[in-house]
Amino acid sequence: MQAPSGPQASDADRLPAAATTRVEQLRALLHHHAHRYYVLDAPEIPDAEYDRLFHELQALETAHPALRTPDSPTQRVLGRVLDGFEPVRHAVPMLSIRTETDTTEGGAIAFDARVRRELGRAEGDPALDYAVELKFDGLAINLRYEDGVLVRAATRGDGETGEDVTQNIRTIGQIPLRLQGAAPPVLEVRGEVYMRRDDFERLNERQRERGDKTFVNPRNAAAGAVRQLDPAIAAQRPLSFYAYGLGEVRGWEPPSTHSATLDTLAAHGLPVCADRAVVQGAAGLVAFHHRIAQRRDALPFDIDGVVYKVDSLELQRRLGFVTREPRWAVAHKYPAQEQMTRLNGIEVQVGRTGKLTPVAKLEPVFVGGTTVSNATLHNLFELRRKGVRVGDTVIVRRAGDVIPEVVGRVPGTRAAYVPNFRMPTHCPVCDSPVQREPGGIDHRCTGGLYCAAQRKQALLHFAGRRAMDIEGLGDKLVEQLVDGGIVRTLPDLYTLGVAKLAALERMADKSAANVVAAIAASRQTTMARFIFALGIRHVGEATARDLARHFGGIDRLMDASLDELLQVNDVGPVVAHSIRTFFEQPHHREIVHALRAAGVGWDEHEGAAAAPAGLLAGKTLVLTGTLPTLTRDEARALIEAAGGKVAGSVSKKTHFVVAGEEAGSKLDKAREIGVPVLDEAGLRALLGG
Ligand code: IVH
Repeated sequence: MQAPSGPQASDADRLPAAATTRVEQLRALLHHHAHRYYVLDAPEIPDAEYDRLFHELQALETAHPALRTPDSPTQRVLGRVLDGFEPVRHAVPMLSIRTETDTTEGGAIAFDARVRRELGRAEGDPALDYAVELKFDGLAINLRYEDGVLVRAATRGDGETGEDVTQNIRTIGQIPLRLQGAAPPVLEVRGEVYMRRDDFERLNERQRERGDKTFVNPRNAAAGAVRQLDPAIAAQRPLSFYAYGLGEVRGWEPPSTHSATLDTLAAHGLPVCADRAVVQGAAGLVAFHHRIAQRRDALPFDIDGVVYKVDSLELQRRLGFVTREPRWAVAHKYPAQEQMTRLNGIEVQVGRTGKLTPVAKLEPVFVGGTTVSNATLHNLFELRRKGVRVGDTVIVRRAGDVIPEVVGRVPGTRAAYVPNFRMPTHCPVCDSPVQREPGGIDHRCTGGLYCAAQRKQALLHFAGRRAMDIEGLGDKLVEQLVDGGIVRTLPDLYTLGVAKLAALERMADKSAANVVAAIAASRQTTMARFIFALGIRHVGEATARDLARHFGGIDRLMDASLDELLQVNDVGPVVAHSIRTFFEQPHHREIVHALRAAGVGWDEHEGAAAAPAGLLAGKTLVLTGTLPTLTRDEARALIEAAGGKVAGSVSKKTHFVVAGEEAGSKLDKAREIGVPVLDEAGLRALLGG
């Protein structure tokens, strides 16, 4: 396949011969890429690039109507039935919505103006009500419930006929197999199957560990899972679902608005996204578009825009459809999270545990709302599998707070032979030999804390908010401390004085004093934080907590045998081995002793004997609003009796928010950062009924 670039050909003076050639070229490209996307779930170019090609073709066909043919990709809804699934004819066609590609507020204003014109509304008439929602980036699904029971689930396909994917959809825990309450004889629910970003990262991490192919983005992973011929495999892919509309309905008159219809679906036990609203007029649309844009990165899943729908179903009927798109709805996009750019070079970075990561140096590109010039390539094997070489056009993805990554290369963009990338045999930072564990994927520098790169990362990790929480000890300062030979090991931190710090470049006396104070304050910590701060491979926060609880004292942990370690909750052979190896090294034991000698310590009650047991042990909850039967104090007492903690504000460390009537900003915050929200019944369920 040729590179999908070409002359910008919207200009009407172009010679028809050139236009004819370009139109043919574009059709071939679009057919090829549509097949990759819809049939194979394996796109080669970003959506944004597909859209550009599509629009170029549309523009050419508009300028030269004679060039339009019935088989042009602009003339049909794409999607095809894959062999292996039974075709399902949709009782009500599954339509798509018009996309507003103007990502500024102009897109919202234009939609409102169009709707008002169609409805014959005059300048001074009252503003229209719109139901506004997120545009989930997944796969459209029709769920058919008969007498409240899920009987069939189908993909959209070409809009008329989809694929029967009932077996796979049944594995999605969020989708009720039976509706709550009195359900009509036939109720078809439409919505999006998607994969949360954290689920996607975990899935890819697992694929990487096994040396298997990774997925390009959550949408592809979700689409691939839904159309997986083996339901057992589909069941291992963590999918989620949000309902956003109806298909065929018999024996029930839906409420008079779209928003109330969604409320009804929620009452039937279907997941409906809480991030929706009813707003008035263009100003309301613009405000929603802005509000969600601000929160896009913090959402737990990908969205590629927002959707505006005329709320009144009566007005929707009056507005009707143009070809296959309703006039009453529009999707208003945000900047794409995937873009193409040139790979200018590959550098190798050394991480905290010595892992060597190939990092792509990119021609700067605007993606997911910011300019990106570096992106991870993860490891040598993934780089090889993706087949990227310097000079290639590659696809970069940046979504949420995840590090930007190169997800693939665009085939056919390599002009000449370029040698394959090789991992260095010696660490680019400290020149120690590089090793790969037998059978392992990762290359590592063997320099340990001798390697300045590992020392810097170890210090940053130690100082991190969830470790020793030393504010002010960031990238720049650590760089200066290590490069200047001032801090060689972790305990050196506790010997730093204000004078030494203030002597560093760009360090004011006051901030030097603040850092010294923060270091001093970090001496009083918890054993769990301390263990986590040491940066033992495979020991995350949760494992550190379990270890602290199990052993009660750091010396017992340091001396624990493999068998003893394996007794700990959730500690398997890999983790146990890693802990053992860490503490077998004399310099690690010295570091622990030196830190203790420097005054780092914790309340010994935290240890095994006093460990809170119970269903909510180690969990932090936040209460907000008025619960139906429990007072605030009663709820707190129940939580604490189960070993949980009640905190006053919501953060990433919060495990659950329990919300009642008139819950306020804490609930908003929980939704924003993706903390699970429970009602009183949910809390009682958590407490064991
Ligand atoms: S409404 C007739 N609402 O976007 C209107 N669609 O072309 C039918 N999508 O593939 C669609 N979020 O799967 C609607 N809140 C939302 C949506 C949404 C995502 C998808 C849908 C379809 C495409 C629309």
